Amino acid sequence: MKCTLMHKKLPVAAMTLDDATGHIVKVNSLYAPEHLPIGIRLYKGAVDRKALDDWWTERAIPMSRSGIREALETLDVPNTEMLLVRCYGLSLSDQYWICPEGSGIVWEDVNFFQNAFSDDIGDVLFGADKNANLLDFSSPDNTSDGNLKKRWKIIDGKRCLLKGGSNPFRQQPFNEVIATGIMARLGIPHVPYSLAWDKGAPYSVCEDFITENTELVPAWRIYLSQKKSNSASVYQHFVDCCGALGIKDVVPFLDRMIVLDYLIANEDRHLNNFGALRDPETLEWLGMAPIYDSGSSLGYDKLPGQIRAGKGVVCKPFKNHHDEQLKLVTSIDWLEFDKLADVGDLITETLTAGDAGDYIDENRVHAIAGSVQERVADLKQLAMTHLPAQAEITTEDDVAEDIAEDYGPKMGLQS
Ligand SMILES: Nc1ncnc2c1ncn2[C@@H]1O[C@H](COP(=O)(O)OP(=O)(O)O)[C@@H](O)[C@H]1O
Ligand SMILES: [Mg+2]
Repeated sequence: MKCTLMHKKLPVAAMTLDDATGHIVKVNSLYAPEHLPIGIRLYKGAVDRKALDDWWTERAIPMSRSGIREALETLDVPNTEMLLVRCYGLSLSDQYWICPEGSGIVWEDVNFFQNAFSDDIGDVLFGADKNANLLDFSSPDNTSDGNLKKRWKIIDGKRCLLKGGSNPFRQQPFNEVIATGIMARLGIPHVPYSLAWDKGAPYSVCEDFITENTELVPAWRIYLSQKKSNSASVYQHFVDCCGALGIKDVVPFLDRMIVLDYLIANEDRHLNNFGALRDPETLEWLGMAPIYDSGSSLGYDKLPGQIRAGKGVVCKPFKNHHDEQLKLVTSIDWLEFDKLADVGDLITETLTAGDAGDYIDENRVHAIAGSVQERVADLKQLAMTHLPAQAEITTEDDVAEDIAEDYGPKMGLQS
């Protein structure tokens, strides 16, 4: 299929997609190089087709998503890249899409920010058995990233992302609410999450923080925008890339994110779980995006004994251990420990609300609340003696590969 890669209303490049696989097989002309997705570099004025195809296929639902194989079977579609093509690659997180040649389709008529979308794909992703021939494929669910079961839904006129949790504790939706409470107390810009229940299962709900005038550029894309030298740490390379692009106030943002992730023992802050905002038309950078996706934390897949011991906690995106990552923080003057005095109550109330007890027992609640209070106390101690400790940023303990947490099959996925 011949099509144009569009950035909102602007044609960026003419491309050919393979009809069977949905991959980009050729870039025929380049109209607006400055509007190419961040991280696609030019070689002698030409687009790196492979890099553009990687970007394009990364828009597809990952095959590691909970329940995706069953969903593809119901939808009678061979792979998630073909789902992309069926919705023109439109998303609720940025403004890129493809316009099939000769179709006459315009942005105003198809974008999901201003137009309603079908519930069909979301229903199937949530396990509904539907007749593939009768489905409307126009949905931002076809371009949603991440491994947890999720769907977009218009609730009271607002575009909202509903996200489940992994078995057996389904703790991620509760964790999002707890992280929201901690960030609200500490004045950290964040996406607020609330809890919802559907057929006895917990979900987190958050509103779309992107509008038709903004877009999210994941840190991963920013990280690809410059060639990394072997001697540069992951942290330094990311900060340098932001500097080269002109994204402001990155270090204060990272200070806050690293501290939050230490407090909640976040295990999955990979480079697609934070990012920056820009204006898709002027390309002006608007700063770092509010913090989202903090759910894979608070020992979500561990037993109370392990949570209490703080053992086996993975750390991303810069260092493999939270203690090491904490050393990257440049300032904690903004951190008001008094504001966290009631963090134990916040955790207990959130983890005992509604039918939470069906998944999370009292012993687990105590372990989680206790471990966070302990980390708050440890951080307070460190703040008086060792922090900030940024003498020299080396590559020691650097994260080697940026990989998202895969929730199955070791724990069994939510059905
Ligand atoms: N509130 C939101 N508004 C716009 N885009 C969002 C929002 N929340 C998440 N996204 C986008 O959807 C992707 C998947 O959501 P995420 O919360 O990271 O799910 P998961 O926990 O499965 O990784 C994110 O990487 C981001 O691109
Ligand atoms: Mg994510």
